[in-house]
Amino acid sequence: MEIIFATNNAHKLEEIQAIVGSHFKLLSLNDIGFNEEIPETQPTIEGNALQKAEYIFERFNKPVFADDTGLEVKVLNGEPGVYSARYAGPNCSFSDNVNLLLQNLKSKKDRSARFKTVIALKMSAHKSEFFEGKIDGVITEKLSGKGGFGYDPIFLPVGFKETFSEMSPQAKNEISHRGLATQKLVNFLKTL
Ligand code: IMP
Repeated sequence: MEIIFATNNAHKLEEIQAIVGSHFKLLSLNDIGFNEEIPETQPTIEGNALQKAEYIFERFNKPVFADDTGLEVKVLNGEPGVYSARYAGPNCSFSDNVNLLLQNLKSKKDRSARFKTVIALKMSAHKSEFFEGKIDGVITEKLSGKGGFGYDPIFLPVGFKETFSEMSPQAKNEISHRGLATQKLVNFLKTL
């Protein structure tokens, strides 16, 4: 079965295709020839995921899912949260975001944080399904590791000795926010 994953992020496509396996053929936005920017203007992670899925469903009328993720840091009242991608400002890089977060946590004792992913699935005009994955961790004081992307070099999951960047992609997938949400999506798709 073909299903559109409303992203052009190669890292995410690779991570999710690995979990989905051969049950479903994922089509990226590139694969369907869609090159516009999808609006992400909602104040919540759930809202943004749904907005993206609906935007593509309305145009292509094919099964589509979209994900949205935020890193929620306790002492920063849940920031960067829904603004995780653009924490350091418009067009900022992953390392700008990481540096700003480390700066904002300087001298803070409680460095607990969690990643949260919501996947919204649209298979028909009047119904949406949501799948959520979360993982608790702490923000380290220094960057460690070379793998992954985004905040991976400074996110140490609870109960582990390696940051997400130091883990293999498979090990990260097994415990990560997106991995857990995707597993729920896959379990649901298999029941159809
Ligand atoms: P998105 O909604 O998946 O695009 O995620 C928003 C932002 O959260 C990204 O630009 C990254 O900075 C960060 N992020 C999302 N997932 C991860 C992850 O697995 N590791 C590290 N950072 C992530």
